[in-house]
Amino acid sequence: MENKKLNFDKFKVSPRKGSNIKKTIAVMSGKGGVGKSSVTSLIASKLRKDGKKIAILDADITGPSIPQAFGIEDRIRALEDGAMIPAKSKSGIEIMSINLVLDSKTSPVVWRSSIVTNVLKQFYSEADWGDLDYLLIDMPPGTSDIPLTVFQSLNIDGVIAVTTPQDLVGMVVEKSLNMAKMMGKPILGIVENMSYFKAPDTGKVYKIFGEGATDDIANKFAIDTVSKLAINPKITKMIDEGRIEDVEEKDLDNIIKKIKNL
Ligand SMILES: Nc1ncnc2c1ncn2[C@@H]1O[C@H](COP(=O)(O)OP(=O)(O)O)[C@@H](O)[C@H]1O
Ligand SMILES: [Mg+2]
Repeated sequence: MENKKLNFDKFKVSPRKGSNIKKTIAVMSGKGGVGKSSVTSLIASKLRKDGKKIAILDADITGPSIPQAFGIEDRIRALEDGAMIPAKSKSGIEIMSINLVLDSKTSPVVWRSSIVTNVLKQFYSEADWGDLDYLLIDMPPGTSDIPLTVFQSLNIDGVIAVTTPQDLVGMVVEKSLNMAKMMGKPILGIVENMSYFKAPDTGKVYKIFGEGATDDIANKFAIDTVSKLAINPKITKMIDEGRIEDVEEKDLDNIIKKIKNL
């Protein structure tokens, strides 16, 4: 049998007229709780501070945490022509998240995955994004339906993988990297989150979770950018207070540089 190249073009959806997105970047991880939403929020905040036009599509439909990080109380508005107007953060980052549509922040999303993927496509294609330098997509963990939909249906220019130093997470992040590779998406870099802790009084560095496998994985996949993000209690606090935009995080400088050169 002929070995045909897979063609996903028929699944593609496009942003609505008037939305011009220069680059779309998906942030993924092998498992939950590694700091994917925090990293997405920090990267978005820095790019915005540097004058870029930024939006975040919160694709973690069943566990949305982007609105909390930015302290968004606004809702997404729908116009009569079907356009959806994203909510805006204090610094002007546009945000689409299911939590900004539900009646209450604590309402669970109990939909079948076919509906969830349709909501995601709708957010992407019906939002009035305007002119964007970067759209960041905060993906749910793993390699399930939603990441597959994001890769097949949206126009993705690059992928950032987030992991932590523990071995198991390292192994799991390889699944994500392999998925991105399979789908032909360029991997911009890996963020090893909670990589170390620097004592504020002595400046001594502690590798709380041990030495990570991230550099080895990056080598294996020929990825040239690894950011090592410290455990920073300020990140936790500011997310709780909805003020992630006030955090300055030098540890992500190299991945941000990579994004700017995309
Ligand atoms: N580098 C960090 N330092 C301190 N706390 C962090 C850091 N990264 C993430 N956190 C905290 O860990 C929790 C989980 O992070 P989150 O970004 O929601 O993970 P994910 O999106 O991968 O599930 C959050 O409450 C966040 O405040
Ligand atoms: Mg998250």
